Amino acid sequence: MKIYSTRRRPHRPARIVLDGLGKRYPGASGFAVDRVNLDIAAGEFVCVVGASGCGKSTLLRILAGFETASQGAVSVGEEPVTGPGPDRGVVFQDYGLFPWLTVAENIAYGPKQARMTRDDIRETTDRSLETVGLTRVRDSFPHQLSGGMQQRVAIARVLANRPAVLLMDEPFGALDALTRGDMQTELARIHRDSGVTVVFVTHSVEEAVYLSDRVVVMAGGTAHGTAGHVREVVTIDLPREREVTAPEFNEYKRRIDALIHQGDRAAA
Ligand SMILES: Nc1ncnc2c1ncn2[C@@H]1O[C@H](COP(=O)(O)OP(=O)(O)OP(=O)(O)O)[C@@H](O)[C@H]1O
Ligand SMILES: [Mg+2]
Repeated sequence: MKIYSTRRRPHRPARIVLDGLGKRYPGASGFAVDRVNLDIAAGEFVCVVGASGCGKSTLLRILAGFETASQGAVSVGEEPVTGPGPDRGVVFQDYGLFPWLTVAENIAYGPKQARMTRDDIRETTDRSLETVGLTRVRDSFPHQLSGGMQQRVAIARVLANRPAVLLMDEPFGALDALTRGDMQTELARIHRDSGVTVVFVTHSVEEAVYLSDRVVVMAGGTAHGTAGHVREVVTIDLPREREVTAPEFNEYKRRIDALIHQGDRAAA
């Protein structure tokens, strides 16, 4: 089952450009992130990894339009980012569900706002529910669900809007290993079928190597006395169907782990 029906195509996948991006929070003594340059192709899947505090969420919040850049320029689909927009679907750690709406109503919210027809709303909602495996709890309210289930509703709700760009900040962090694996497979499939551009923050290097076309390794942050910055961008040159036990897969994991922890001893 596909969320993206051919009848109603998603927004055209969008290129994302960060050009000399810097962010200094009000009152902060230094920059949270500095001089970030990234050019993400339309339809690309990019994971962002790095130690706590290196600015991963800051980067995503700026792309989402929740924070403004202090320096540099950010564009999505060749348009400068000036605030949140329906072209960008955001899944962060806090689910942000409407507590007074049922699961199905939460998912149907975006399509209703977009003035889809009643049939299309129904179809999109059903498909989204099926994709995240929550059809049976469609009439429950968020507080009746576990944290992992609420997170899946949040993902389904974003997908129902057919965004051009998916911005995900540790979306699977609260899920058990089995559900997490299922969601990774599902997300890889959604990405393949829809061609949506994805920027995905994770602490799991394995997850990053499994999902990404490229992995952005960030470093620095206030704990290290520097601004967060991009240390290296690693292209994952593996077939789309990935075997996590393959030697090449493990070699990427080792390399990215080393890049994340590079300089740890010097900083300690
Ligand atoms: N609203 C804010 N006001 C001031 N400083 C902030 C704010 N949000 C984040 N920071 C600071 O910016 C830096 C980067 O934070 P950010 O949340 O982007 O890191 P992160 O890489 O997402 O970390 P984690 O892996 O722990 O989620 C940190 O030093 C943090 O304290
Ligand atoms: Mg974060």
